Amino acid sequence: MTIKTTTIKTITVLGGAGFVGSSVVVKLDEAGYQVKVLSRRRESSKHLILLPNVQVQECDIMDNFAFKEALKGSDAVINLVGILHESGNSTFENAHHQLPRRAAQCCEELGINRLLQMSALRASNHALSQYLRSKAAGEAAINEFSKKLDITIFKPSVIFGRGDSFLNMFTSLVKFLPVIFLAKPNAKFQPIWVEDVAQCFVNALEHTETYGKSYELGGPNIYTLRQLVQKVMDVLGKQRPIVGLNDTLSMAQAFMLELMPIKLMSRDNIRSMQVDSICSASIADELGVTPISLDVVAPEYLLNSSPRAAYDAFRSAAGRAISARR
Ligand SMILES: NC(=O)c1ccc[n+]([C@@H]2O[C@H](COP(=O)([O-])OP(=O)(O)OC[C@H]3O[C@@H](n4cnc5c(N)ncnc54)[C@H](OP(=O)(O)O)[C@@H]3O)[C@@H](O)[C@H]2O)c1
Repeated sequence: MTIKTTTIKTITVLGGAGFVGSSVVVKLDEAGYQVKVLSRRRESSKHLILLPNVQVQECDIMDNFAFKEALKGSDAVINLVGILHESGNSTFENAHHQLPRRAAQCCEELGINRLLQMSALRASNHALSQYLRSKAAGEAAINEFSKKLDITIFKPSVIFGRGDSFLNMFTSLVKFLPVIFLAKPNAKFQPIWVEDVAQCFVNALEHTETYGKSYELGGPNIYTLRQLVQKVMDVLGKQRPIVGLNDTLSMAQAFMLELMPIKLMSRDNIRSMQVDSICSASIADELGVTPISLDVVAPEYLLNSSPRAAYDAFRSAAGRAISARR
C-alpha cells in the first residue's frame, strides 16, 4: 500500500527528546533512518544516545542562526515541540506559532522538502484556549509554504503511554489524595497510544499520499475525564470518591494550581477542555495504523511506572536495533 518515491535518509527531529518524540525517534532508528535530535539539554536526551542511528545535538532552536545551521544536511524535519504551560521565553506564540513558521522557512531556504508538524485536535483560531489558538496559528503559518514543501500535519487527541503526563498525573493523585476534586469531569477525550502516533509519523514520512494533508488522530474509544480517572483507580486497585467540579470551580482550582511551583493544570488547560477532544472520523487508511485501546496498554505501565522501567524499554529498543544491524 505504501508508495515510496522519495529518498529520505536523514531526519531532524525537533522535540525529539520528549514523550512523543522519544517514541518517534526509536521507530525512525529501527526503520534505519539517520536521526538528528535537537534538544536544549543533551542531558534530557540520554535515553536516546544508546540508539545506533541517533545523534543528539544540543541546540537553542529559538536562535535563528543555530537552528538553520543544525538543520543543514537533513532530508526531512519533524517538529514535535510543544508546551502546555508558558514559562519565561517559552510562550505559546514562540513554541507553537513562530517555531513552525521558522522551521518551514529554513526548510525552504535549505532545500529540505519534507516537513511533518505536530498540532493538536480541535486547534482553531476561534478556540477559547491560547494553546489551541497557537496550534492553529502554527498550522496556518506552515501551510503558507504548502506550494514549496511537502507538509503533513497531525492533530491528536490526548496521547497516553509510558511516561505520559496525563494518566500518570492521575495515578499520582489517586495514590496520594483521599478524594479527587476533578475539574471538567464530563470533558471527552479519544486517547491514542504514543506508539500508534509515532507509527503514523514514520508511515507518513515517505508516503506521498499524505503530502499536503492534515490528519486527526484518536484511539478506538471515547471516555469522559471521570471515566479515565475511574479507570486509573481500577487499575491501581484504589478507590477514591470523585467530586466533579462545575466550570466556575474548575477555573478556581486551576487558578490555585497555577500558583504552585509544579504546573499540574492551568486555566488555559480548562479552556482547552471546553471542546470535546474527539475525532470526526477514524484514522485515515493511508496511515496504516489500527489504534490500540487504552484498556489494553495502560494497566501495564501504570502499575510499573518507575523511571527505571522506561529506561529499560529504551535499552531494549537499542538492543533490537543493534542486533538488527549485525
Ligand atoms: N502529549 C499529548 O497528550 C499531546 C496531545 C496532543 C498534541 N501533543 C503535541 O505533541 C507534541 C509533543 O508532545 P509531548 O507530550 O511529547 O511533549 P513533551 O514531552 O513536553 O516534549 C516536548 C518537547 O518540546 C521541546 N520544547 C518545549 N519547549 C521548547 C522551547 N521553548 N524551545 C525548544 N524546545 C522546546 C522539548 O525539547 P527539549 O527540552 O529537549 O529541548 C521537549 O522535548 C507537542 O507539540 C504537543 O503539543 C501532545
